[in-house]
Amino acid sequence: TRLVATTVLLCMLLDPVILQTLGHQDLTTVEGFPSLNMKFDSRRMELSWDCKENTTYLECVMIHKEKGPIEIMLKENECHCKFPDYSLHEGVTFMVKVNSIQRPIPETLVYTNSGGKGTAAQNFSCFIYNANFMNCTWAKGQAAPDDVQYFLYIRDLKYRRERECPHYLEDSGTHVGCHLEDLSGLAYYNYFLVNGTSQRTGIQFFDSILYWKKIGSSHLGGFSHGFHMSKTNG
Ligand SMILES: *[C@@H]1O[C@H](CO)[C@@H](O)[C@H](O)[C@H]1NC(C)=O
Ligand SMILES: *[C@@H]1O[C@H](CO)[C@@H](O)[C@H](O)[C@H]1NC(C)=O
Ligand SMILES: *[C@@H]1O[C@H](CO)[C@@H](O)[C@H](O)[C@H]1NC(C)=O
Ligand SMILES: *[C@@H]1O[C@H](CO)[C@@H](O)[C@H](O)[C@H]1NC(C)=O
Repeated sequence: TRLVATTVLLCMLLDPVILQTLGHQDLTTVEGFPSLNMKFDSRRMELSWDCKENTTYLECVMIHKEKGPIEIMLKENECHCKFPDYSLHEGVTFMVKVNSIQRPIPETLVYTNSGGKGTAAQNFSCFIYNANFMNCTWAKGQAAPDDVQYFLYIRDLKYRRERECPHYLEDSGTHVGCHLEDLSGLAYYNYFLVNGTSQRTGIQFFDSILYWKKIGSSHLGGFSHGFHMSKTNG
């Protein structure tokens, strides 16, 4: 009788319907557990979430299209992490890995570049000349509507000061470049953001991190060649 009872119990345990039910109950438990409510502050490159009792957060990960996964190990009881400065226009995915029975699956947050595909400014580049002047130029996105307007913001990544372009270069009213006469507020590396507006559709942003890189310039004789800013960080 005992053998039969055991067999019946085993069958019950292995019955796919029962297993499914168990799985479903597990899922319900996960769903019922409050979400981490992840938030990403793109200005500070900081991911944060609600701290939960009895949960250890192990690491956070940013999956970047060009750079791949960037993992940051967390100290005990930390519910935020700061990533290095990278461009975000291709979209990134964030994951928080958690050590908890209720929550074995990492939570993800997808940060997207909202707006119509092909609406972002393209062919962005900057050129420094006469030591203290800089021109940046870009082209209208192929899919951008006629009424698109672009804006350039430059953020000094050392002090995190941000300023908008003081003098736009225009093509039939559309901003397609920027002229700066005072570069003193810029750091060794800077974040450039071109976003835009239109009545008809959402405009995607373009962003890039540019480093000062002197090209064939002599400090004594002035910068006859000028120097370009090089894109190194995607
Ligand atoms: C956390 O763990 C403690 C001790 O095991 C327990 O008393 C408490 O109810 C737990 N809290 C939650 C929210 O599960
Ligand atoms: C942008 O650059 C690409 C590659 O250099 C070039 O083929 C294209 O014509 C440029 N687009 C505009 C609008 O300048
Ligand atoms: C930079 O832009 C200014 C303002 O439009 C223009 O006068 C100047 O010629 C440009 N300089 C270069 C090197 O392209
Ligand atoms: C563009 O970015 C700047 C700087 O982050 C922000 O202040 C502004 O509201 C943005 N504009 C649009 C149209 O998204």
